[in-house]
Amino acid sequence: MKKLVVLSGAGISAESGIRTFRDMGGLWKQYDIMEVASLQAWKKNPHLVHQFYNERRKQLFDCMPNKGHLYLAALEKQFELSIITQNVDDLHEKAGSSNVLHLHGELKKARSTVDPDLVYDLKHWELTLKDTCEKGSPLRPHIVWFGESVWEINKAINIVAKADIFVIVGSSLNVYPAASLIDFIPNETSVYIIDPNQPFVQSNRNITYIREKASVGMEKLFELLH
Ligand code: APR
Repeated sequence: MKKLVVLSGAGISAESGIRTFRDMGGLWKQYDIMEVASLQAWKKNPHLVHQFYNERRKQLFDCMPNKGHLYLAALEKQFELSIITQNVDDLHEKAGSSNVLHLHGELKKARSTVDPDLVYDLKHWELTLKDTCEKGSPLRPHIVWFGESVWEINKAINIVAKADIFVIVGSSLNVYPAASLIDFIPNETSVYIIDPNQPFVQSNRNITYIREKASVGMEKLFELLH
């Protein structure tokens, strides 16, 4: 089976009602990243950080995958499919995708603040400072905050380096190291970008742009590939 590798960003979840970050109405238009999504923010005002993620987690419990997620899941029948996502939602998994690597963490998980190996699934949307790990320390969102290392990046690079086909869907390619994954794609690999806009790609390789929203673009890609 050919190896299909997909890098997904907030755009694939937009049609499921989840806000992107840098579009019109994006989250970073309303919130200051350094006030809600950084280690400094956590140290300064952990309650505000919990509030920011609780609001997003509460919304996520009611969100469903859209056709973009579903077409991607369907491609598992024809390809050895690896999804590398920048998203912290669980919509790829809800759509049935079985091989999902979350580069930036997962909204529905929490982590101990004294032992990073202690990670817990959250059954409820609200996380407060009263919630502690088995060692008694407060739980934090299991999210990679700005300034923290992306612990899965080497695993992602190894996956990308073996791709026969590489697809970027719904990412502005603004955030590193995720955006640098494009540098690890083998020369002979076919590359597709699905996005109503055209993210800037610092590469002279031949790219097929599908300038559509994810639900339409993934259907077109499905027709091209299956
Ligand atoms: N279908 C496909 N793409 C879409 C859609 C849609 N319906 N709507 C918007 N897009 C595209 C936008 O054109 C843009 O290129 O999705 C991209 C969204 O870009 P960002 O908001 O920057 O999201 P993303 O690239 O995932 O951000 C990366 O930044 O803040 C951090 O950790 C956060 O994981 C996030 C990272």
